[in-house]
Parts: sequence; structure tokens; C-alpha cells
Amino acid sequence: MYAESRQKELLEETHYFLKFIKAHPIKKLSLEEIKAIIAELRAVITYHDWRYYVLNDPVISDYEYDLLFRYLRDIEARFPELITPDSPTQRVASDVTKVFPEVPHLSKMLSLDNAYTPEELKDFHRRVTQGLGVNEVEYTCEPKFDGAGIALVYEGDYLKRGATRGDGARGEDITPNIKTIRSIPLRAPFSQFGIYQIEIRGEVLIDKETFRKINQERLEEGLPPFANPRNAAAGSLRLQDPREVAKKKLDAFLYQITYAVNKKGENLLGNHIKSHLEAISILQQCGFKVSQETTLCQSVEEVINFCQSWEGKRETFPYEIDGVVVKVNNIQFQQQLGETSHHPRWAIAFKFKPKQATTKLRKVVFQVGRVGSITPVGELEPVEVGGVTISRVSLFNEDFVREKDIRIGDTVLVERAGEVIPYVVKVVKEARTGAEHPIVFPKTCPSCGSRLVRLPDEAAWRCLNMRCPAQLIERLKHFASRRAMDIQGLGERTARVLVISELVKDVGDIYLLTEEKLLKELPKLMEEKGYSRPTFIGELNAKKLLQGIENSKNQLLHRLIYALGIRYVGYTTANLLAEMVNSIDELIKIPIIKLEETPGIGPKIAQSIKEFFALPENLKVIEKLKQAGVRMAKTEVSGPLTGKVFVFTGALSTMPRDEAKSKVEALGGKCADTVSKKVTHVVVGENPGSKLQKAQRLGLTIITEEEFLKMIGDKQ
Ligand code: IVH
Repeated sequence: MYAESRQKELLEETHYFLKFIKAHPIKKLSLEEIKAIIAELRAVITYHDWRYYVLNDPVISDYEYDLLFRYLRDIEARFPELITPDSPTQRVASDVTKVFPEVPHLSKMLSLDNAYTPEELKDFHRRVTQGLGVNEVEYTCEPKFDGAGIALVYEGDYLKRGATRGDGARGEDITPNIKTIRSIPLRAPFSQFGIYQIEIRGEVLIDKETFRKINQERLEEGLPPFANPRNAAAGSLRLQDPREVAKKKLDAFLYQITYAVNKKGENLLGNHIKSHLEAISILQQCGFKVSQETTLCQSVEEVINFCQSWEGKRETFPYEIDGVVVKVNNIQFQQQLGETSHHPRWAIAFKFKPKQATTKLRKVVFQVGRVGSITPVGELEPVEVGGVTISRVSLFNEDFVREKDIRIGDTVLVERAGEVIPYVVKVVKEARTGAEHPIVFPKTCPSCGSRLVRLPDEAAWRCLNMRCPAQLIERLKHFASRRAMDIQGLGERTARVLVISELVKDVGDIYLLTEEKLLKELPKLMEEKGYSRPTFIGELNAKKLLQGIENSKNQLLHRLIYALGIRYVGYTTANLLAEMVNSIDELIKIPIIKLEETPGIGPKIAQSIKEFFALPENLKVIEKLKQAGVRMAKTEVSGPLTGKVFVFTGALSTMPRDEAKSKVEALGGKCADTVSKKVTHVVVGENPGSKLQKAQRLGLTIITEEEFLKMIGDKQ
């Protein structure tokens, strides 16, 4: 896309503009001066979009990018006549679309035929070679992305239209939303290849990590999560407000040119563009994101090998994939083979084991969460989904149950996608016998018996009793959890006995525990309450627990904020808050307006934070933590990793990236998102991205996950 020399030039200009911006407030610039710089400023920003969104390898900080972007935006606000359709500012449109008009595709958007076994791939190969009258044929293999299909039309290098698949012949025109996806260029140099009008196909996706975060936030807000990244992507694409779409971090991979003509209207597919690999290379050179995994295979055996090896790599790939697409590489051959009304005869999808299965819903129990929300949980006849046996599934809330009309005894379709919690996709109504019965929601708390309430604007029924034992158990588990205070030895069972025995009446009490209390008092208290067991906590576990509690006193501020369990304050928000303040005391006093104005926080979370700190009970707990010696403020941590800066690329197999970063920070190290000379260690997981190549170029120290675990002391 960009020649090395052009990249150098753009980088030099980047630094020139950053200085220029400081010295030249827009008010003082003349129209002539602006005209002289605006095109190059746009080129610079477009270049950084490409580095960030297509290569995942930015070369300036987000802050510097923002400075450039705002400068351009403000210039355009002053001189709207200078705005061009490909200006990077035009990605965030402002109008809410009421309906998406229907548009015909330039060529029919077909489906793919499926193969589930090597034999079926061989059958496909036989059909292809017989159809062509040849013995050998070249194939390409690439991941089959599980997202939402799109068709893009460019004319004279400009993006003209983006549409959904629709019924295959006509789709919905979602151009304003497509423009918000920054890995899709608004202008692409197709004319360099003699192309005037072109239609390309691809898939809009959300990567697994972003998907996990979106769902986690939805859960924290009491909303039912999306079933899978595909639904999240498809749903986001059809959002009516492009500003909302822009927030969703959609990604797009392009994998096919379906139509390409020159200015005279002559077809170029099969003539100038001879193979699928060439088509992909053109798309890459025009700035699109294409799959780096596309591989040429010379025989059906090689195809089978590729398909089978990818079934194993599926879990560690950053995007959800449901198979491999095998295509005849030669486009003239493709044209010769043609298509049925349903699928092309020159391609096939090798499908992986499905991540869905049907099973029976036996029973529903009701769980009390840490803020008192009552969650219905379905008990299932155990069933294997994607290699894992599932016997329980959250039904989230009453609205979810009513909307899907879920009844006890129903046959349900469950899915486990994106390595997330299982999810009921739908009820198989055809399987009903009449013996199913509705799910009845309780009126009182299953733990403490208080009357449940459903507050306006909330989906969940709640128990408002602050002293409800079930809530306290959940709060305690959350406080001790991996991303919070990370207290080893404080899981479900221990939390339960600590609360039932009343040794712990709020989370602050855990810092008052002693061996004496755990080993002598606790059994007595439990017996008084009618529980008898030889041991509740053994001597070894007691020591481990106390050590875990002691260690937790030194956790970083963002973990403590997260651990407090403030409603709607998830891990991401806790990190944001920890960046804004230096201590819990500062957070308690922070003006609500400041919270409301912070991007990523907003009025609902701000209100919840204020309500939390307005409750005397909560302040008392914080005071207890302070007295116990829990660190309440930011201080530079020093430890074995002080002075070291880590970057992660690829998926780690032993822990999520968040956790790895926290561990580094707890040991005094720092983490960066991008590779630069300041980085001292690059940790490489499965399927590393372009950061690895950059690290190699810079000659940085590259280590494996195993070496990393040794450094943080997780492994001998
Ligand atoms: S090529 C004629 N390549 O899968 C269709 N499709 O189940 C040729 N898909 O409609 C499409 N990844 O939306 C192709 N690498 C890939 C793909 C891919 C996902 C989608 C596409 C298609 C659907 C069929």
C-alpha cells in the first residue's frame, strides 16, 4: 500500500504537523495557508489509520493521533467548503438512519457448499477436476470468518456503497455505518490496476477479546450479552446511529472480488485479474485488511492437512472462525465451473465441529448476585458443545426468558462461542409435547426471604437487603477474585463458611482473621448454627488463606476500585478511574460532573459511583480496609520487574492478557500496547501479530510464554 519511502515521508510530515499545530492556532491561519496543508494533513491521518486498523501496528501515540485529527476537524468546521468525501473526519457521520434502503448487488451473493470430512473434500476435488477435464488443480485455503457478510462498491477509487447480504440478490444499504469502520479505506487506488468500478466481498467482525469485553460490560450493566461475535457484529452494523456503530470497534476482512470493470466497461476478472491470490494481493495493496493465512495448496491432500491443522488452531485465533474456505485459485477455471443457484462450484467450506447443540432444560434455580440481582439459571441435561460438557446456563433475567418464551422441559439450542459462557440461542418449539411449564419468578429472596423489587429501567428483580448473606458471599468472592485483590484460597466454599459463621460481616472483616479464629472459633460458630463437619478450614488452607489476604494489602489501586464491587464499574472502568485519581479518598470526593464528562464513564456509571460512596456502610468498610493496612493510593511499585517494559502479542495459553499485565505491574514492571525502542521484553503467544516482526526489526528481546511465566515466578 505504502512504499517504504512514502512511509518515511509521511512520518516526517507527522512530526512536522505536530510542531506546526502547536505554533499555529487555526484562528490565525489564512485560507491560503490551510489550502496548502490540508491535503497532506489528511494523507498523514489516513496513513496512521492504516497503521493502526489494518496493520495493528501504530507508529504514533493515540494522543498524537488525536492532536492531528482534531486539528483537521477544527479546520473543516471553520471552512466546511474544504471538506472532501474521503476526509478521515467523514467516517463519523451524524445522521440517524431510520430505514436502510434496499440495493441490488452487482453480482449475486451466494452461499457456500459445506464439507465435514476429508472424504467430502475429496468428492469436491473429483467434481472440480472432472468439470475442468484436468488431473491437478491449485487451491487456496483460508479461514472462514464467522461474521456478517458485506459487499462494497468502489467507483473511480471512492467508496460508493456498502451493503449487507440481504437475500443474496438485494441487500440493505448501510454505507454510513460502513464508513465508520476504519480498516475500510474511503478511497482506494484501484485505478492503479486499471479498475474503474469494483465490487468486493468480505466479512465484518469483532475480535474475541473485544467481544469478551463488550459482553462483560453488558453483564455488568444487567443487559443480556450477545450470543456470539457474529451477532454482536451483525447487530452493530445495523444500528441506526452511526455514532453508536463507531463505538463498537468493528473490523473487516475482504476475501473476494466479484466484479471489476475498467472505464470502458470491460470485464477484468479472469483476464487481468487471473487468480484468487492476485485478487487478494490487489485488495491488500489498496489498503484493505486481508487474511494473512491464505495458503496455496497444490493437491487435495495439502488442502485436507490445512483444514485439519486449523481445527486445532481455532481457539487461539483472535477471531471466531467456523471453518476453512477452499477455493479454486485460477479465476478462469472458476468461471468455467460456474455456480448453482445456491453456491459456486469452485469453492467449498470445510466446517469445524459446531459450537451449538440441543438439549433439555430440566429445572431453573435462582441465584443472588453481589448487588442483589436475581438471576435465573437453567439446569440442563448435560451436553457436549465444542468439546466441553455443559450442564448449566444463565438465563440472565425475566425479559430474556419471556422474549425467548423459555419453559421448563423445553428442548433448547445452546451455543458456546468466543470461549464465553454458554447461551440459549432459542427454544426448539417443534419439540414441545405440552408437558412444558412456565418459569415462575420468585417474589422473595431465595437467601434471606426479603421481598424482591424490580426498579424502573432495570431488567432484574433485586433483593435490597444489604445484609443478605447470599449477596455478601458474592461480594466476598468478587473482592478476592483474580482481577480484583487476587486472594488465593478464598473461593466459593471458604466465602460461604466465613459468611454463614458470621466471622465475616463485610469484606473488611477478612483482614481481621487469624489462625485462631479460623481453626478454633469458626467450627464452634458453625456448629451453633447447626452445621457439622469434621473440618471447615484445614490448618494448611488457613495458612494459605491468611498469606493470600496479607499479600493482597499491596494490590494496585485499579484492582482495589474494581474489588469494591461498585455497580456498573467493571474492570475497564476501574482502570479508567484509577487513571483519574491518585487514591480512594480522591475518588470519594471527585465531582460527579467530572465523572459524567469522562468518555467511557457517562451519567449512569457516575451516578452509581456517587451512590456507592454516599452510603455510610460502604465508607465504614473502606475505613476498615485502611486500618488494616490495605494500600489506598498509587505509589510506584518496585519489584523484580522494575525498569522493564513488556509488550504482548498473540494469545497466551495460561491466562488472559489483562491478567498478565496486572502481574507485570504488581512486580514493578510496565506494559505498553505498541512496540518501540523503550520496550525491553516482547512476549510471544500463539498466532502473534505484526508486533513480532517489528520487535525483530528493532532487535528487542523476544521471549516465550514459558519464559515469561518464569520471570513472574509462576513457574519454576
Ligand atoms: S468466499 C460465493 N471466503 O461464508 C461465496 N466466504 O457460508 C464465496 N465467509 O457468504 C465467498 N469467510 O459471507 C468466502 N474467507 C471467506 C469467507 C467467506 C466467511 C462467509 C461468506 C459466505 C458465507 C457462506
